[in-house]
Amino acid sequence: MTIETRSLTGAEIKGIAARIDRPLVLVGMMGVGKSTIGRKLAQLLDLPFRDADDEIERAAQMSVSEIFERFGEAHFRDGERRVIARLLESGSGVLATGGGAFVQPDTRALIHSKGIAIWLDSDVATLVDRVTRKDTRPLLRGGDPAEIVARLKAERESAYSEAPIKVMSDAGPHGEAVNRILKALDSWL
Ligand code: S3P
Repeated sequence: MTIETRSLTGAEIKGIAARIDRPLVLVGMMGVGKSTIGRKLAQLLDLPFRDADDEIERAAQMSVSEIFERFGEAHFRDGERRVIARLLESGSGVLATGGGAFVQPDTRALIHSKGIAIWLDSDVATLVDRVTRKDTRPLLRGGDPAEIVARLKAERESAYSEAPIKVMSDAGPHGEAVNRILKALDSWL
């Protein structure tokens, strides 16, 4: 078995966890699996998990779609930045962010200064396959989801590429992406 496919042992994962002194912040396109992968990663590292969109919904007492509909994207981005700023103050943990968060310069600067950004990337076909299973994303409602996902990915890639760690999360099981993140952290920390 190669080092790439071998799962890390519990002791190796503990060793990595002991070196994490800042929040791990998952960034990347909608549909890439930030929440599912983040939850599994947090569980393995024995760290708390937070999902920025869930926290925004809790703070606003309404869904992300309703915020977009009633107040517009700029208002959502403002709330998103404030919620992420608060979550970054709660110490080590795993934080999944919405796909547009790291694209906003102020939010990106906050994440750079307080956390370790991890860009989860995937090809467009995999993203489209995953996002079309749910109808909860306001940015996909105005047209063809495949076209919108491809355009947003192209527009956002230069921002995402500022993350110090990049991991692929392709069509395989999410556990593989978690393993790749752990190995990337092991060499980066
Ligand atoms: C968005 C992604 C969504 C959510 C909002 C905007 C985006 O989160 O924050 O709909 O701009 O890409 P997910 O990446 O979790 O779908």
